[in-house]
Order: sequence, then structure tokens, then C-alpha cells
Amino acid sequence: MSHFQSGERIHLVDKKGRQYALTLKSGDRYQLSGHKIAHDDLIGKPDGSLVTLSGNKTMLALKPTFGDYVLKMPRGAQVLYPKDLALIPMWADVYPGARVFEAGTGSGALTMALLRAVGPSGLVVTYEAREDFGQTAMTNIERYMGPMPNLIPLRRNVYEGISLPEDGRPFDRLVLDLPEPWQVVPHAAQVLRSGGIYLSFVPTVPQVVQTVEALEKAMVFGMIETFETLLRTWSIQGRSVRPDHRMVAHSGFITVARKIESGLWPTAQAAEAAGEAAEDHEAREDDGR
Ligand SMILES: C[S@@+](CC[C@H](N)C(=O)[O-])C[C@H]1O[C@@H](n2cnc3c(N)ncnc32)[C@H](O)[C@@H]1O
Repeated sequence: MSHFQSGERIHLVDKKGRQYALTLKSGDRYQLSGHKIAHDDLIGKPDGSLVTLSGNKTMLALKPTFGDYVLKMPRGAQVLYPKDLALIPMWADVYPGARVFEAGTGSGALTMALLRAVGPSGLVVTYEAREDFGQTAMTNIERYMGPMPNLIPLRRNVYEGISLPEDGRPFDRLVLDLPEPWQVVPHAAQVLRSGGIYLSFVPTVPQVVQTVEALEKAMVFGMIETFETLLRTWSIQGRSVRPDHRMVAHSGFITVARKIESGLWPTAQAAEAAGEAAEDHEAREDDGR
């Protein structure tokens, strides 16, 4: 059974499901709206315990899931939502043992998702332009995952280029969550292995258009796809069964592409032109012309 330890981050959950994060430290006291509990009354308790604060306030004490942890951890930059964190390792096909490049690190949420997916035999190299964000991310990652010897965090501007790891081998996957991923596409073309996967996340339409244009222009990316995810939760109370009134209606667009040898895959414009030509041909055949 898993018990709470001093130094660990845990969540207290109230009857409405609201979560409050605290880092356990022997001798400290936690306070929520006047209700108090000594950390020593939590340390040693099993994960999932009901605990009583002063004033007879009962709460649930839990080790946070990855998704819960990410939403409550200290932030420098805006973190990705769990719905996107779940999807990105799948669509970038991040597998155990993979060598992944990431930028920017931000608060470290996506870095953790990538580390979980590559496992101990994989590698994650992550660039962050801002020293303060990078430090927050490393604290967040270490507190949840412990020391990560297969993570290489670097303070670098990824728009200026990407260095290969010391062994000189290319990356299998490249994942970007920053404002101008199109500036990274030429570098991605150089450091991704053939058959490797490029994935970027951007919140707005002009950004996604510019990204896809850059991928097409590079001539070494094929199977370019863009999509977004909508997660709608439901309220189920007796016979009242309906979607919740509120949802995160938009977070961002995910663009995925495969690195390929140039030559086979047509650019979007060429494919469009070929499609139009084929449609013209079919239309003429339908007309009996
Ligand atoms: C939206 S945040 C990333 C959040 C991160 N995915 C997470 O889930 O915690 C974007 C980050 O990219 C960083 N960034 C922006 N431009 C960059 C660049 N040229 N090189 C490296 N990092 C950059 C920003 O400082 C910021 O921390």
C-alpha cells in the first residue's frame, strides 16, 4: 500500500471535488478557509484516506494523478491540458526507448508526458528560452517523477537551431509547444531521422497555417495532418443525464507530419492541382466527353 511521505506533493479533495495541493513537511500545518490539519497527521496515512481538519471538515487525501498534478503544479508558462497531454504521445507515437526532442519546456507538463512515454531506456532533450521557466519546470518534474537521468534540459533558443545529442544520432520524435513552430521546421528536417515524427501544438489558425506551409515547403515531410480535440464531460444524476454546461471549448491545434525522403510526397499545392485535374477528367467522363 502507498503511504504519504514527508516531501511528497498530495491533494486534498473536498465534497465538491475541488482539489488543493500541498507539499508535506513534518512540523508544518495546512490551513484551508480556517480549517487546519498538521502535516504530521497526514504523513504515514494511506493514499485515498479520509482526513478530518479542524471544525470537523472531512476531505479526501490523494496522491495526485499526472493530470491532476499538472493542473495544480506551480507554473511559469501555461501548461497543456490533460486532454492534449494524453493525445500528444499517441499521435507523435512516442514509444519506450525513443529519442525525443522537445521545445519549449514551459512548466514541464509535456516533458513529463514524454518522459513517461519513453521510459528509462529513452531520451528527452528539451529546450527552453527562459531560465526562470526552465527552473520551475525542473522542480515540477523532479517533485513528481524524482531524478530523471534521461532528461537533458537546455536553456536555448530553438529558433537558432537544434544540436544532436553527444552520440550524434538523430531524434526519433520532435514535439513543439511554442509560438512559432514554423521557425523550427528547417531544423527539424535536419535532426529527425527518416520516418521520424514531427508534432506541434499551436492555439490559433494563423499559426497552424504558417506551420503547415513551412512543413510543405521543407519537402521532407509527408502525411501532414492537423486536428483538435474536444473533451465534453457529462453530468449523471439520477434521471438527469446531460453534458455539463461548461467545457474547455478550445485549447489548440495539433499538427503531425512524417519525415520522409524528398521526392515522393507532393506538396499540398501539387496534390490539389493533381486532384483538380483528376476531378476535371472524371467530370468529363461523366459527361460522356
Ligand atoms: C506554452 S509554453 C510550453 C508549455 C509546456 N508544453 C507545458 O506543458 O508545460 C511555451 C514555452 O516555449 C518557450 N519558448 C518560446 N520561444 C522559444 C524558443 N525560441 N526557444 C525555446 N523556448 C521557447 C516559452 O518561454 C515558454 O516557456
